[in-house]
Amino acid sequence: MSSQYVYTKVVSEIERKMRKVPRSFLKDAKANKKDEFYTQLKDIESELKHYKKHFKGKVVFCNCDDPKTSNFFKYFAQNFEELGLKKLITACYKTQDLGFYGTFPSSKNSDLNNLDIVYLEGDGDFRSKESIELLKQSDIVVTNPPFSLFREYIAQLIQYDKKFLVIGNINAITYKEIFKLIQKNEIWLGINLGRGISGFIVPEEYELYGTEARVDASGCRIVSPNNCLWLTNLDTTTRHEDIVLTKTYIGNESNYPTYDNYNGINVNKTQDVPKDYGGVMGVPITFLHKYNPEQFEIIKFRKGDDEKDLSVHGKCPYFRILIKNRRLQKKHKPSIAVTPKSNISEQMCLIDL
Ligand SMILES: C[S@@+](CC[C@H](N)C(=O)[O-])C[C@H]1O[C@@H](n2cnc3c(N)ncnc32)[C@H](O)[C@@H]1O
Repeated sequence: MSSQYVYTKVVSEIERKMRKVPRSFLKDAKANKKDEFYTQLKDIESELKHYKKHFKGKVVFCNCDDPKTSNFFKYFAQNFEELGLKKLITACYKTQDLGFYGTFPSSKNSDLNNLDIVYLEGDGDFRSKESIELLKQSDIVVTNPPFSLFREYIAQLIQYDKKFLVIGNINAITYKEIFKLIQKNEIWLGINLGRGISGFIVPEEYELYGTEARVDASGCRIVSPNNCLWLTNLDTTTRHEDIVLTKTYIGNESNYPTYDNYNGINVNKTQDVPKDYGGVMGVPITFLHKYNPEQFEIIKFRKGDDEKDLSVHGKCPYFRILIKNRRLQKKHKPSIAVTPKSNISEQMCLIDL
């Protein structure tokens, strides 16, 4: 079975889930503010191995992390020397109590259980003055933040101009604020997505649900939503790699219907993006996992010229991102295949979200 086949199966499954189960448990988590989903060490390791070069001499801040339970803290403390870190700060939020932060290595020794702990005056909310002071001292923030506050969380990192690598729900791409940052190429998707993040540890009082829910060998209760991603502004090698395009538009026009309300064609799978189409194409949001900004330009999200959801013969495919192949703009301009439908200029297609 080819890796492209496996990838396509996984992304279509994610999209199916997102469409069919709109009240998936992470959405419920947002509504109920159930934020206690702890990240497994193996998932942190499998993502972080791609970013090692970014950490040398840096102060890392895990600002939603109780050092007793956080595998982010554990990962950075255990790999402190190998990564060449300068300092590790972990801040813990407490709803009923004072928050605290710990710095590693401690002034005494570099035992993982021996942190320098400082109690805060407040609860340790990442938006609090005290936590922001710690943020200012840091270079890179790495964590799985509360899903219910994801927009605010990312906005704060951008405001303080911090490098970051965080876990979020795939739906976060569809948030206007997040999509704009991706479109401007200020943030992008990390390496692992969907099933690439194997599951989260949940507390006793959380329901263990989903077909893949389990209790692991060490007694941890795990749920696998398979709909999460890593979001980052640390460079990755994959975002500089072109998506290999094998399909053609010419001769297969019927596979690529034109939108009712936009001068562009609909493409249902990233692997079906035609290599010979120079106009605008609507692709599924999981395209962003393979997106190389040197190869494609993101034009717009979701809406047609009438600002309604993009539709084909009256039906709206699940959220589409409108893109254009930059390579074709440069090399093959005179011979590009474009199906003009309206007189709307490209300038008009570039209107903001
Ligand atoms: C999804 S959990 C992840 C925990 C940990 N980062 C991990 O990955 O294992 C999010 C954590 O953020 C904490 N939290 C909730 N609201 C917060 C806030 N306003 N400021 C800081 N942390 C918060 C929750 O208590 C929860 O432990």
